[in-house]
Parts: sequence; structure tokens; C-alpha cells
Amino acid sequence: MNDKFTRIGFILAVAGSAVGLGNAWKFPTLVGQNGGSAFILLYLLLTFLVSFVIFIGEITIGRLGESDPVDSYRRLAPSNKELWSKAGFLMITALLIYSFYSVVMGWILKYTATSIFSLPQNLDDSGAMFNALISNSPLVAIICFTIMSLVCFLIVSKGIKNGIERLNIWMMPSLFILLVLMVLYSASFDGFAQSAKFLLLPDFSALNSQSVLDALGLAFFTLSLGVTTILTYAASLPDRTNILTSSINIVLINVMIGVMMGLVVFTFIFEFNGDPAQSGPGLIFVSLAVLFSKLGFIGHILAFAFFLTLLFAAITSAISMIEPAVYYLVKSRAFSRAKACVAVFVFTYVLGIACILGYYGATSEYFVIAGQPFFDALDYLTSKILMPLGGLIIVIFVGYVIKKDGVYALLSPYMGDFGFKIWYFVLLRVVSPLAIFVIALRELGIVNFG
Ligand code: PFF
Repeated sequence: MNDKFTRIGFILAVAGSAVGLGNAWKFPTLVGQNGGSAFILLYLLLTFLVSFVIFIGEITIGRLGESDPVDSYRRLAPSNKELWSKAGFLMITALLIYSFYSVVMGWILKYTATSIFSLPQNLDDSGAMFNALISNSPLVAIICFTIMSLVCFLIVSKGIKNGIERLNIWMMPSLFILLVLMVLYSASFDGFAQSAKFLLLPDFSALNSQSVLDALGLAFFTLSLGVTTILTYAASLPDRTNILTSSINIVLINVMIGVMMGLVVFTFIFEFNGDPAQSGPGLIFVSLAVLFSKLGFIGHILAFAFFLTLLFAAITSAISMIEPAVYYLVKSRAFSRAKACVAVFVFTYVLGIACILGYYGATSEYFVIAGQPFFDALDYLTSKILMPLGGLIIVIFVGYVIKKDGVYALLSPYMGDFGFKIWYFVLLRVVSPLAIFVIALRELGIVNFG
């Protein structure tokens, strides 16, 4: 296969997948709700003890399998090949995530385009504006969602090198520069010192068992684990890439961007007396939009830069969700890339429209699953059930099923013998499966830590 990443292309593409809307609103929201930087330290600890282990496990499957997810599992399983190949179909999780994620991308596109001209002046107007977009007249949401979907599929249709790598190579540094500029600008406000204090001075008394589980769930989502995305990118990894340092770089980039996003968001929240514990769309689309409007003309530019940064972060993540299924259709089902893109586009487009109509007042009653709007149901199913399941399958497969010699040959040159033993025998075989099991039980409401 010639269509491989370059080394830097690989790092940027995987970092692009990791850095996304999760960093922009899940990260600040959870940090806000769990008392600031003590939560960040906890998140870092769990990232390195659990998520990082799964992350390297997923890279291992991709690197050794060197194929699409289904075929990689099939090739590496020493027996029961057909059964194990089914694990590759967890790529459908990535498509389900894409279906609602691309709807949010549509909202961001709308805010990017309009924030330069108009911003809501108060929370009521802002809430009404957001409601109009999602529940009163969905036409704009549908148009923006369609545009973003077409853009993402166009990029993926061009393949790894000419599409995915090329996009990430300019979009990730641009995102970073925009964010640095925003952090520097935020530093001119009084709220910045409060924001930095909140994010950097730990208050351990704010942590509880719930925080531990939140941090673990976040570490899972922001690293795009368990949905075959990392596996698929790793299948196009160039030879002699140092897997360990690349992975550490990716994780650090991911955390740093989360903290920078947090600094910007909290500066404005503190500056204008917003509520740091507010969550989700309320924080980004409703509060921040009003806060920016208080800054007059410069606020419009800032809002535009902020939403553009989010859009970049979201696009580089979204394309990584589509690639596994497209690659599978090309590699194992002999589709052309264009045809594979059309097939996956149709599948996700229908689900995306169902997400939009599930929020639209006039049709919402028809798009409900288990009492929840279609969008929320997909979010719940993927992040609470399918992602942990994917993670569990990875640790079991790499820790117990595939031959240890191959894993050792791949990783020990970078980790050393001792590092490999700790990684493999302690973290991969014991700590990670236990941790996932505990989150899954808690998320499903089977156990409650109070
Ligand atoms: N890591 C992305 C974020 O934090 O927004 C979300 C994500 C990307 C999940 C890619 C799954 C995936 F395959």
C-alpha cells in the first residue's frame, strides 16, 4: 500500500482526531464542574495509566495488521479468525458518532458565519437564537450540516496522503496559532488570572469518586479510543516510526489544547461573571456568544476566530471517524474510494437528519429512542456503551489473544524490556480492563459510588 502517512503527517492526523469538540466543551465543562486543575491532574494520571495503554494497544493492532479494521483483527487472531474479525465492525461506532458530531459541526459553521456580523446581546436572545437553530426551523441546521458533511467526505475521498494528511498538515498548526492568539488576547483581561488560577492551582477537595470516573470517560473520548480510528490510521503508519514518542506527543498535544481552550473559555466566564459549572452547548453557543458581544467589534472577530478554531478541530476529528469504514469498503469489499465515500455518506446523512429532526419541535416525537431524542440516544449509546466495549476488546485482544512475541517485537525497541513488561503485564492485562469494567458498570447505573 503506497498511500501512507509521513511521520509528521501521522502525528498531526492522530492529534487531529483526538483534538476535537471533546476538548472544546467536554473538557472545560468537566474541569469546571470538578473544581479545576486537580481534575486535570487526575485526568493526566488516568490518561497515562489507562487510555494511553489502550491507545498503544490500538496502534499495535493497526501496525501489525496493516489492513482495515475487520481484516486486521482477522489476520492477527491466532484462531477463531471470523469471530474476532467482527470486532472490526466497531468502526460503525465511529460512524454513529460522526452522525451527531457533524450536526454540531453544522451549528458551528452557522455561528462562524454569522458571529462576525451579529452576536446576541443577552442570555435570553442567545438562548432564543440557539433554539431557533435547533428546534424551531431546522432548515439552516440541515443546510449547514449538509455543507460540512460534503466537505468531510470530499477530503476523505482524496485518500490518506492527498486528503487526510494534507488537510491536517495545515489545519492543525492553524488551529494552534489561532488558539495561541486567543490565549494571548485573553491574557489582557482580569478574568485571565482567575482562569489560570482555576486551571492550574489544584484544589483536591473538589474531587470525588464521580470525578475519577468522569476523568476516565473524558480520557477515552478525547483520545478517540475503541472505535477503530486509531487502528486505521496506524495501518498507514510509516516504517520505523517511534510509536512511544509519537503517542506521548499526541497525548500531550491533546491535553495542552484542552487546557488552552479552557483558559480562553474561563477567562470570559470569569470576566463577565458567567457560571464555570455550566455544561455543553449552553457554555459555548449560548454563554460565550453573549460574552463576546460585550467586547464590541473586537468581540465579533474573537467569536469568529473561536468558532473557526472549533470548526477546524471538529473537521480533523470528523474525517477520522469516516476513514475506517471507507477504508474497509475499499480494501475488503473492492469499492472504489469514491463509491465507498458515497455509501458511507448516505448512511451517516440519514442518521444525521434523524438527529436534526429529533430536536425539531414538529417532528421530535417521531425521532425518539428509549425516551431520548435521537441525537442524545446516539451520544449515549456510543460514549457510554460502544466506546468502552471497543476499549475492552482491544485490551483483551492485545493482552491475551494475539501472540505476545509480535507485540514485544513491535514495542520493546521503544519501551525497553522493563517498560514493556510494566505496560503489557500490569497496565494492559490488569489495570485497563478493570478500569473499563468499573466505568461501564457505573455508566450503566449498575453500581453507584454516590
Ligand atoms: N476525540 C474527539 C474529540 O475529542 O472531539 C472525538 C472522537 C474523534 C471520537 C474520533 C471518536 C473518533 F473516532
